Amino acid sequence: MHRYADTIKHVLKDWPLAGLAVEPTPIYRLARLSSKLGREVFALREDMTGFGLGGNKVRKLDYLIGDALSKGTEVLITTSASSFSRNAAVAAKACGLELHVLLNGEPAEHNSLSRSFFEQFETKLHYVASNTPEGLARAQEELAANLHSSGRIVYEMPPGGSTEIGTLGYVHVFEQIARYTESTSTHFDNIVLATGSAGTQAGLAIGQCISGYPTRVIGIAISRPTEVQHKRVLQVALSTADSLGVPFDESTVLIDDRFLGEGYPIPSQESIEGVRLFAHTEGMLLDPVYGGKAAAWLIHAARVGELKENENTLFIHTGGNGGLFY
Ligand SMILES: Cc1ncc(COP(=O)(O)O)c(C=O)c1O
Repeated sequence: MHRYADTIKHVLKDWPLAGLAVEPTPIYRLARLSSKLGREVFALREDMTGFGLGGNKVRKLDYLIGDALSKGTEVLITTSASSFSRNAAVAAKACGLELHVLLNGEPAEHNSLSRSFFEQFETKLHYVASNTPEGLARAQEELAANLHSSGRIVYEMPPGGSTEIGTLGYVHVFEQIARYTESTSTHFDNIVLATGSAGTQAGLAIGQCISGYPTRVIGIAISRPTEVQHKRVLQVALSTADSLGVPFDESTVLIDDRFLGEGYPIPSQESIEGVRLFAHTEGMLLDPVYGGKAAAWLIHAARVGELKENENTLFIHTGGNGGLFY
């Protein structure tokens, strides 16, 4: 019986997917880490989504590009040189689309590895002199209007891809988690992940609400204090739930900012220790900006007893390989 998983599958059935991710991504017990922490810890390897640079952005792009293709899109537009736009560069090629990325500043202000990555995938880069978010938004509007007036069908995506469409990627992943539980009888009391633009956590929380799977999805804030991040996750979750036509329980949004350190994108002593612990116990590569901060939370929560001995915790490895090209 796959009651939790099938309920989610039914809700998502009419939303088109581009079919980028290789799934299901592995879930397994981290034996050496669990023994070191004295708590049962499992990993969900979303770094192994099997497309481009891997990571959570592939899940969002699966739904965003699925939606774009269903609307006859020829051109994608996004902003900033992030892991989202790098994965979008790969995905655009795989789906026969053109990608435009608007960047603040001059070419020389961006590292050459990043530029050559985009060149490899024939991404059209537009450098915007203004250096302000408003200037970038204005330039994006102009670019979209020009492309549109030349007869092209354009699809715009915000950096991070956390729209109500991109967020469906992690409602989808919750189905995968629920299916694992229902076929192995391994229940996860806690699901922990790094949260930034909010779509990953919002999608998981919606999956939890749709299925009724009893768990705690805990977002470890990497860029904003709890109150601000909570608002952001809630806003993304409510708009996504609304477009799915499902109710959303606000109490499922749990944020912890104790490992924010000096904020984004600055590694902290604790996040570096988190990266080391995963490397030394499991031979697993985390990045110190996202995964390392979630790992720091895990170490602390195990040490002080916030994670109980009889609980299973699922650590979501959200990726981070795109950081090599910053
Ligand atoms: C490696 C990694 N983990 C976690 C996140 C956070 O995901 P979200 O932006 O959906 O909150 C990101 C976002 O950039 C990321 O690159």
